[in-house]
Amino acid sequence: ETITLHAPGTVANVVCGFDVLGFALSQPYDTMTMRLTTPRGVTIRNHDDYNLPTEPTRNVAGAALLALLKAVPEQVGFAVEITKGIKPGSGIGSSAASAAGAVVGANYLLGNRFTAAELVEFATYGEEVASGVRHADNIAPAIYGGITLIRSTTPLDIIPVPAPPLFVTVVHPQIEIRTADARAILKKQVPLQDAIRQWGNVGGLIAGLMKGDYDLIGRSLEDVIIEPVRSILIPCFAAVKAQSTAAGALGGGISGSGPSIFMLSKDEKTARRVEAAMREIYIAAGIDFHTYVSPIN
Ligand code: HSE
Repeated sequence: ETITLHAPGTVANVVCGFDVLGFALSQPYDTMTMRLTTPRGVTIRNHDDYNLPTEPTRNVAGAALLALLKAVPEQVGFAVEITKGIKPGSGIGSSAASAAGAVVGANYLLGNRFTAAELVEFATYGEEVASGVRHADNIAPAIYGGITLIRSTTPLDIIPVPAPPLFVTVVHPQIEIRTADARAILKKQVPLQDAIRQWGNVGGLIAGLMKGDYDLIGRSLEDVIIEPVRSILIPCFAAVKAQSTAAGALGGGISGSGPSIFMLSKDEKTARRVEAAMREIYIAAGIDFHTYVSPIN
């Protein structure tokens, strides 16, 4: 038996919620085909030009599957074929998609014996290979869908957050930022007044999502800790934010560790206007880019 699945891109952080908030996109996505094998272990085949490792301990899907196999008593393994639709280093959860897709596919092939929370736990071992940290803010929404809050990683406590209709516009300027590098430049200490502003925004964003209060969502999409440091790496960041807001977006910021930028809108029409504003900026700057418009789901 084989299974073919789509593993979605995700936007981590959602501006103020560094390492704790994330949501799933409907595109772009990776396509993965998996089957059970009788020798224990994992074999990986990549269908792309990214030169990703195929050795299971160094591959994000491989590392996630090896973690899952430790909880499987039978002598089985997995053969995995991955076609990346999400560019590595794009900030749209490329590594998380492969890790999440791998454990969801494995669970299906094993008769769905693990819970979604257990699958998130296994998949974070893939994130560790990619960035050195087992953060779950891309993995959780890739597996649960929608918007998720990681209240705690140890022990893992995942809270799906209900939300009103929202559309996201993502622009990926074609440069690559490695998450490990984007984490290394962060300050390790946060002044108390910045922390206060940040947790006010996180609380406001969660309340705004649950109440369907678009104004509150917009006001809360502010990051005083991470964005000032990371945005320097992203071409046209300030212009994209300003022009997108002028085009009607509620707000937005860096997607994950960048370089992609995302903006949230109430409806698809506004999200398309935001897309046009973003295109104009990067065309004028002579920078190659990709855009995606998708409902949050
Ligand atoms: N929360 C992580 C970071 C996500 O911003 O480093 C990486 O995609």
